[in-house]
Formats: sequence, C-alpha cells, structure tokens
Amino acid sequence: MEVRSSSGSYSIEFASLTAIATDLPSNSFVITDRNVWSHWGSIFDHLPTLVLEPGEASKRLAGAETCYRWLAHHGATRSSTILAFGGGVIGDLAGFVAATYMRGVRLIQVPTTLLAMVDSSVGGKVGVDLPEGKNLVGAFYPPQKVLIPLETLGTLPPREFTNGMAEVCKYGAIMDAQLFGELSRGVSRGQMQSLIKTCISHKADVVQEDEFETTGRRAILNFGHTVGHALEKVTGYSDLLHGEAISIGMVVESRIGESIGHTKTGTTEQLRACLESNGLPTELPLVEEQELIAAMKLDKKALPGQLAFSLLTHIGGCKLCTGVPEEAVLAALKSR
Ligand SMILES: NC(=O)c1ccc[n+]([C@@H]2O[C@H](COP(=O)([O-])OP(=O)(O)OC[C@H]3O[C@@H](n4cnc5c(N)ncnc54)[C@H](O)[C@@H]3O)[C@@H](O)[C@H]2O)c1
Ligand SMILES: [Zn+2]
Repeated sequence: MEVRSSSGSYSIEFASLTAIATDLPSNSFVITDRNVWSHWGSIFDHLPTLVLEPGEASKRLAGAETCYRWLAHHGATRSSTILAFGGGVIGDLAGFVAATYMRGVRLIQVPTTLLAMVDSSVGGKVGVDLPEGKNLVGAFYPPQKVLIPLETLGTLPPREFTNGMAEVCKYGAIMDAQLFGELSRGVSRGQMQSLIKTCISHKADVVQEDEFETTGRRAILNFGHTVGHALEKVTGYSDLLHGEAISIGMVVESRIGESIGHTKTGTTEQLRACLESNGLPTELPLVEEQELIAAMKLDKKALPGQLAFSLLTHIGGCKLCTGVPEEAVLAALKSR
C-alpha cells in the first residue's frame, strides 16, 4: 500500500523479520526496547542496536539525547537509516530522532504492537513527551517505509493486544460499518492481517486528506479520545492503557452524541457490545467528573473554555462537534 505525503510517498508492507533484516541498507541503526529485543533482537544482531527501557518514560527529550549521542558515537551520518523497531513509544521516539539527527535521516518503521501497526506507524507523526503533557514536542516526518512483521504479535502480552483492538474497533465505528460488524461477531488471529490492512488503509485515507491536521478531517480519528485522554490524565497514566481509556471514552462520547441528537439512538449499546466482546473495558472508573471536564476543555479540538468532540453520527460515520453543552457531558459521565 502507498501513502502520499508532501515529501513523497511511502509504502506499507507486511514482511517477515528475516526478509526485513536481509533487505536493510548496511548503514542502518536499530532503536528498540528491551522487551522487543529479548524476543526478536537476534534477527538484527549484525547491526548496531540501541536497547532502551520499555515504557512511555523513554519517550522524553532525555531518551532522544541518548539516541543522538549513541548515533554519533557509532558514526551515523546523513546517509544512515534508523530502524524504529518496537511499539508506538519506540516509533515516536526513534522517528523524532530520525527527523532531527543531522536535520533528518532516513526512517523505517517496523511496528511490533497491534497499536503501532494500525495507528502510530502510519501518518508521519513523531515526537516525545514533556512532564507538562504527552506528545508536546514533535514533527510530521513520514518514514521511508513501514514494514510490518506480523509474527511479532505472537509475543505481545494479551493486554497489549487487546489495547490495540480498541483502535481497530474505532476505525469500524467511525468509518466502516462492515468492519464493525465483523468485530462485533468476533475475530480470530487468522484474520489479523486483513483487519490490519483495512485499518491502515482507513488511516492512510484520512491522513492523505489532512496530512498536517489543518482541515479538520484528521479529527475523526480522535473519536473517544477527548474523554480517553482526560481519563488517562486524571488517573495519572497508570491504571489504564491508552486503548482501554479510549474504549471507555468511545462509550461516553457516544452517549453524549445520543443525548444531543448527533448520534443515532442505540449506537452506544452496539458500541459497548462490540468493545466488550473484544475484551475491552467500557465502564468509567470512579473519578471526579469535574476534573475530567476540566481536562477535556484543554483538548486540542476545543476553543478556549469550550468542549468539542469527534462524535459518531451512526456506526460507520463521524463528525467533529464543537460547543457541546457541559450539562450533556456531565450527564453522560454520571450515567453508568
Ligand atoms: N504517532 C502517532 O500517530 C501515534 C498514534 C497513537 C499512539 N502513539 C503513541 O504510541 C505509544 C503507545 O504505543 P504502544 O501501545 O505500542 O506502546 P509501547 O511501545 O509502550 O508497547 C507496549 C508494550 O509492549 C512491549 N512490546 C512491543 N512489541 C512487543 C512484542 N512484539 N512482543 C512483546 N512485547 C512487545 C513494549 O516493550 C511495551 O512494554 C504512545 O506513546 C502514544 O503516544 C502515537
Ligand atoms: Zn489513540
């Protein structure tokens, strides 16, 4: 599959790790984390490899500096290629490093989590977190290619797999009723390649229309995320994985949509059933509603002091909705 971007198009392909390792330019540098490396690192043992600590804490400017200095020590030049071999944390961090080391070197994304395969490796967003907030420093930097080693899903912990299924369900809910139907009936591991392909083509369609997040089209990918991000923030990014938070967020936002007449009646129940059958949580944990609302007002889609959500119109359709009344949001948060 080809994705067009302002700096040329890039391909997204499925490839085994052996095939990826064989085809790499000789001046490639691998950036990965310890979990991925412990399962799959031996494949790249002929290449210089930086193994970082797993987890979001590595996705910081300090982590980027570790990468820059390691690259410099190992003689990486502008003609080198960085291989981001891992989940979204490694993809975002190594991608940011590729965008900035010597003002930009080639980047190949090799995503190893379901979330990274269907979401973070596609679309060119790279970046790091600040203590003040996630993804506050970054760039749009499309990779040279994305190579998906499906076999790596075999070692992904079940909770991380389910986490990625939240984004898969999101694509069904916002733009593909047929996919949503399949997900509601239950999918097997054997269907994953075709599911991932479908999700990538949806993400590619959206980002091609709105590469730099300026036309509003990209906002539909944010369904479930206004509430989800607020929930992650209020719970201190500790109890819930991102996919789990947006699963709950999608249900709450669908409820908001139904209550203001934007979302077709009955959608929330369909969504909840689909998410639950894929092992995802849908109930809001005990949190202070006003704290959640305060966090939602800081969402990038909202005007100052207002609330904005990307809301389903029905299963398979989604539209940005600004100026949503606070009472509707509060009621949806309280209705459990
Ligand atoms: N750039 C974007 O457009 C975009 C989109 C969505 C999310 N993100 C970012 O992605 C990050 C989350 O990504 P994630 O969910 O992949 O998390 P992650 O990279 O932390 O990976 C999750 C866990 O799985 C482990 N792991 C990865 N692959 C494995 C494998 N094949 N076998 C065994 N263990 C494996 C990792 O070590 C980690 O412990 C966040 O930082 C988020 O901001 C970016
Ligand atoms: Zn997400």
